[in-house]
Amino acid sequence: MDQELVNKIRENTDIVELISKYIPLVKKGKNYFGLCPFHNDNNPSLSVSREKQIYKCFVCGEAGNVFNFVEKYENVSFKEAVKVVGDSIGISVSSNYITKKEDKNQVYYDIYDIATKFYQNNLLSAKGLKAREYLQKRSLDMKTIQEFQIGLSLNSPNSLYKLLLKKGYKQEVIERSGLVTVDRDTYLNRIIFPLANPNGLINGFSGRIYNGENLNKYLNTSETEIFKKGENLFNYSRAKESVRKKKYVILMEGFMAVIRAYTIGVTNCIATMGTSLTSEQINLIKRLTNTVYLCLDGDQAGQTAIINNGALLSENNLNVKVIPLTDNLDPDDYILKYGKDKFYSLLESPLNYNDFKISKLKNGVNFNSSDELSKYINLVLEEIRLEKDEIKREIMLKNLAKETNVWYNTLEKKLNELLSTRESNSKKREIVLKPTKNKKNKYEKTLEILIYYMITKKEVITIVENSHVYFPIDKYRSLAREISEYYNKFGFINMADFNTYLEGNLELKPLLLEIMGLDLDNNVSNEAILEYLRVIKEYNVALEIKRLENLIIKEVDPLEQAKISDQIRKLKIGSVE
Ligand code: CTP
Ligand code: MN
Repeated sequence: MDQELVNKIRENTDIVELISKYIPLVKKGKNYFGLCPFHNDNNPSLSVSREKQIYKCFVCGEAGNVFNFVEKYENVSFKEAVKVVGDSIGISVSSNYITKKEDKNQVYYDIYDIATKFYQNNLLSAKGLKAREYLQKRSLDMKTIQEFQIGLSLNSPNSLYKLLLKKGYKQEVIERSGLVTVDRDTYLNRIIFPLANPNGLINGFSGRIYNGENLNKYLNTSETEIFKKGENLFNYSRAKESVRKKKYVILMEGFMAVIRAYTIGVTNCIATMGTSLTSEQINLIKRLTNTVYLCLDGDQAGQTAIINNGALLSENNLNVKVIPLTDNLDPDDYILKYGKDKFYSLLESPLNYNDFKISKLKNGVNFNSSDELSKYINLVLEEIRLEKDEIKREIMLKNLAKETNVWYNTLEKKLNELLSTRESNSKKREIVLKPTKNKKNKYEKTLEILIYYMITKKEVITIVENSHVYFPIDKYRSLAREISEYYNKFGFINMADFNTYLEGNLELKPLLLEIMGLDLDNNVSNEAILEYLRVIKEYNVALEIKRLENLIIKEVDPLEQAKISDQIRKLKIGSVE
C-alpha cells in the first residue's frame, strides 16, 4: 500500500466535513455528535473529533478514521474507501492501485462470473428458444434480461462442471461453489437469475423452472463461503444510488417483482428471498435510508408479512410505510394488470404502517358487541402507544374516539397509563444496550495512557524509549513497538494515519481504537509521563518478585534459596534496577 499517498489523502480531508456528508452532525464542546449509523441509535452517540481526526461511537464501539468510516458506511474495501475519499478532495487514486480485494474467496467469485456468462450464452443459443419464449411471455425484454444478467442452464448433466475443470479449477473448489453436486451441475434446465452480495459481486443463483416440470419452482444456491441467504438482498447494489436519491427503499418479497418494477423505472426496490428479514439485512437497509415502503404480495401471507416485517423495521427505528396491493396480486402481476401509472400513484400515497395495522385489526370486529369493541380498542391503543410522534398519536386517538364513540378523555387516560409503562420499559432496555466493558486494572490503564500520549506527542516516544521500561503485557508491548517503528520510519505520527498503518492487524487495531477513544488532556507534562512509567516499573518489580517466590518454593539447594531471597529483599527495597 502506498502509505504516503494514503496519508496525503487523509491529511487533506476533514473528518467532520466528510462524515457530515453522510449524517448530520452537531457541535457539542470540542467534538461533533450524530446518530451512529452502525447500530440502532436513539441518542447521538457517534462522536467525531476534528482535533484527532477520528470518530468513535461510545455505545457500539465502532471507531476509526475517514477511511474506516467510508469503508463501513459504503460497505467497500479499505482500498476502495481510500479511492472514494481521494475522489472527494480531487486526488485521484489510479485504478491499478485498487487491485481486486485480496479475498480468499476470490476464486468463488471468479467461478460465478464464468458461470453467469456461460448461462447467459445458453439463453441466447438455439437451445434457449423455449426459455426466451417463456421470458417473452412474461414480458421481460432483452434489455431487462441483460441488465439482470438472466441466463439459462441446459438439460445437459455436467456442461458447467466440464467447463470449470477445463479452466483449471480444482474439483473440490468447484463443488464447494455450490454449482456442482457430485459430478453433476446443480442447475439443470432452469432460467438462471444471478444473486449478488451488497457490493454487486455475483455470489449465487436462483433457478426457475419454465417448462412446467413438477419440481420446486425455484432452486437457490445453498449456503457457501460467499453466499449467506440472510446477508443478501436481491438488487441491493443496483438500487443503492436510486434509494439514496429517492430517500426510501421499496421492500418486496420476490425478485420477479423487483425486476418488473425496474422495467417501469422504479429502481429503488430490493427483495428478501422469500424469508423474513434478518438483522444483517436491516443494517444493510439502514446504510441507505431510514424509510422503507413495504410492497409485499396482496394475499393473506403477504399481509401477515407486512405486519411482521413492519414491526421488525419499526423496532429498528426505521420509518415504515405500506403500499397495499389488492386482488391477491404480487407487485409483478399488479403492475402487469393495472399498469405503470396506477403503480406510481400508489407510491405517491403510501399508508402509515400504524394506520395499516389498525385497519387490519378492525377486520371482522362486531362493533355492536361491547366485548369485541373493547378488545379492539385495547389492541388499537397498544398500537398508538408504539407511535413515537406525539401529534400522530393524537390524530390516531381522535380517529379511534370517533369510530368507536368512546369519550376521547377516557381513551387518552388509558393511553397515558400505557405510555408510562413504555417509558420504564425503554429505560430498562437502554441499560442492557450499554456495552459491558471489561474492567481494566491500574496497570493496563496506565499502559493505555502511555500509548495514547506516544501517538499524540512525539516527545513521549523518546521518553519511553530512553526509559527502557518493559511493557509487561504482550499486546501493549507490540503496539508500543509499532508506534516507535512508525515514528522512526516516517518522522511523524498521529492517530488517524497510524490507524491506517495498522489496517488489517486484527489484534492491534481494535486495541488502538479503544485507546483512541480515551478522553485525555492533550497537555501532559514530562513529569507525568515519568510517573506513569514508574507505575509500570513498579508492576514489573512485583511480577519479578512473584516469579522469584515461586522459584524459591521449587529450589532444594539452601544456598541457592538464600541467593534468591536476597534478590527478593533487594527488589523490595528498590536497590535493584
Ligand atoms: N422462493 C423460493 N423457492 C420457492 C418459491 C419462492 O426461493 N420454491 C422465493 C423466491 O426468492 C421468490 C420469492 O420466494 O422470488 C417469492 O415467491 P413467489 O411469490 O412464489 O415467486 P415470484 O417472485 O412471484 O415468482 P414467479 O412470479 O416467477 O412465480
Ligand atoms: Mn409472481
